[in-house]
Amino acid sequence: MKTIVLYSSRTGNTKRVAEAIAAALPQGTPCLDLTKPLPENLASYDCVFLGFWVDKGTADEASRKVLQQLHNKNVALFATLGADPKSDHARKSLEKAAGLVPEGVNVPSCFICQGKVDPKLIEAMYKMFPASSLHGRNPESEARHKAASTHPDAKDLQDAAAFAHEVLLGLEMEG
Ligand SMILES: Cc1cc2nc3c(=O)[nH]c(=O)nc-3n(C[C@H](O)[C@H](O)[C@H](O)COP(=O)(O)O)c2cc1C
Repeated sequence: MKTIVLYSSRTGNTKRVAEAIAAALPQGTPCLDLTKPLPENLASYDCVFLGFWVDKGTADEASRKVLQQLHNKNVALFATLGADPKSDHARKSLEKAAGLVPEGVNVPSCFICQGKVDPKLIEAMYKMFPASSLHGRNPESEARHKAASTHPDAKDLQDAAAFAHEVLLGLEMEG
């Protein structure tokens, strides 16, 4: 089973998860920034693990572009986001990204965990939105950003590695 990890990461959260996933996959699995030129032999990989950061409820733009062009047999998705990873918002963000892969490509499984939000973005949102809005400065948003501020943590990286193992095992059993 030939595997490769591609990721997009603006502030490093998704990169850390990508590296944990690559370390759990067969030795020599490449772990590459998808905003840089992609390898010419990309089509030769049985499974692409593609990681994105959630941008306004879907995959970030660079990831969306690559996702739409992947013709590998399997594309396993992983992501980080500021919101609760068990929220509807998280589920829908993954669903939207999964909906972008070309027809016939198998999406075996997805993984999502929290990632700290860029403090500059938080400040900009506090300025832009009234306190009564979801993104304004209020006790709920402050609690949400505080909860995210320690992620991805060691448990997230462990869970990401377990996700990679499970995907691999599942695909190998399918043959
Ligand atoms: C422009 C922008 C839009 C974002 N939109 C969302 C969003 O819709 N939902 C969410 O939960 N987090 C959102 N976030 C937070 C990021 O998804 C989160 O901090 C992620 O872990 C960043 O990953 P990175 O460090 O790999 O860039 C957004 C961040 C930015 C900069």
